[in-house]
Amino acid sequence: MAIRKPKGTQDFLPEQIGNWHFIEQYMRDICKTYGFNEIRTPVFEDTKLFLRGIGETTDVVQKEMYTFSTGDHTDQTFTLRPENTASAVRAYLENKVYGKEGLTKWFYIGPMFRHDKPQAGRYRQFHQFGAEVLGSQSPVVDSEVICMILQLLRSFGLQDLNVEVNSVGCPNCRPAYREKLIAFFEPKKEQLCPDCQERLYKNPLRILDCKNETCKDLSVGAPEIHEHLCTECHDHFEEVKTLLDAANVQYNLNPRLVRGLDYYTKTAFEVQYTPLGAQSAVAGGGRYDGLVEQLEGPSTPAIGFAMGMERLLLALEKQNLLPEPAVDPSVFVVALGDAAKVEAFKIVQSVREHYIPCEMDGQGKSMKAQLKYANKINAKYVIILGDDELANGEAIVRFMETSEQETVPLSTISEHITSLVKG
Ligand code: HAM
Repeated sequence: MAIRKPKGTQDFLPEQIGNWHFIEQYMRDICKTYGFNEIRTPVFEDTKLFLRGIGETTDVVQKEMYTFSTGDHTDQTFTLRPENTASAVRAYLENKVYGKEGLTKWFYIGPMFRHDKPQAGRYRQFHQFGAEVLGSQSPVVDSEVICMILQLLRSFGLQDLNVEVNSVGCPNCRPAYREKLIAFFEPKKEQLCPDCQERLYKNPLRILDCKNETCKDLSVGAPEIHEHLCTECHDHFEEVKTLLDAANVQYNLNPRLVRGLDYYTKTAFEVQYTPLGAQSAVAGGGRYDGLVEQLEGPSTPAIGFAMGMERLLLALEKQNLLPEPAVDPSVFVVALGDAAKVEAFKIVQSVREHYIPCEMDGQGKSMKAQLKYANKINAKYVIILGDDELANGEAIVRFMETSEQETVPLSTISEHITSLVKG
């Protein structure tokens, strides 16, 4: 049987690549506006980075990582990155960036890998655009990244966005809340789904956002984190909300938004585009004030988010917000006969020197077929070179839109075409 692409992965063919360039350009522009610089980190890392960074009890680490070892490293395993925050922090520490910059603002665009059950909007290889701010505990930064996501999504014309925010507390206030949750769920343990039974003592907050209907019912009336935040977390969250209000951001407070990665502290958020259905989270993020220290760096508050690029493209497609493919004004050189072919090749190359898209036949087509092809690729100008033209040291230039023609000396043809195209 023919070899197929792995399940949950996608090929993007040339007709789709324009859409990727389109969204990437907007992403780069918004990053420039908000002062973020690009980083590129390896697509695989030492597995320990994700075990320690994301958390051993998370679904991502327990079920979804692509982990492998290589012949020369039998005692060490590597993992295809399931996300990029842990890698960004690793790079921040390894390159001692903390000692060089007061505030670090980074962004990234690239593929991530999670062995999840594939469905519309959920893939095993997917792409994230993400941004991380390291070195500030100010609520200004929390609000700023949320505003940045919304500005980006709105600049594409996307509406009907739903912003969910929560505070998940910190190591000071979470343990007491955790105990409260355990006490609440313990009597119902047997009725919880097998995953939540396991989460009960390891990570009971995750029960709150379990998608299982029984678990959802069982968590009605569960203690809410807002009532258990310490003063610092409470005040921080109040200020985030004040700033979001000041920026006219509409949001929902969602005490069940706990996010699937263990590093979060204080603010957690998600931006959803509901028409996407089950996989409606277009972006998610939050504060991770303890992660740098957890990876053996100096205590450094941080916050960030990542956006699923495939999900964004699905949303834009749904709303018909993707641009028509741009047509470059291109040139096609029709050549008849061997001598003309050599001359045509010279013309094509000299026109290309000016970065003007220019093509000639490479399949031995007839003149009629060459003209048909020139039409198909939307050539604006066609240069026709036959034996007669060659003998006279001339070429015919046809304007495809009007079918008008003119005769131009071969010696100036490429300059002539260049000035026609570039104006
Ligand atoms: P996350 O919520 O796991 O967070 O992923 C962020 C976004 O990536 C999701 O909202 C979704 O749009 C997209 N995404 C996740 N998994 C898939 C998948 N299997 N297929 C398609 N898209 C997917 C993080 O990854 C954190 N690192 C975000 C962050 C940065 N927090 C702080 N800094």
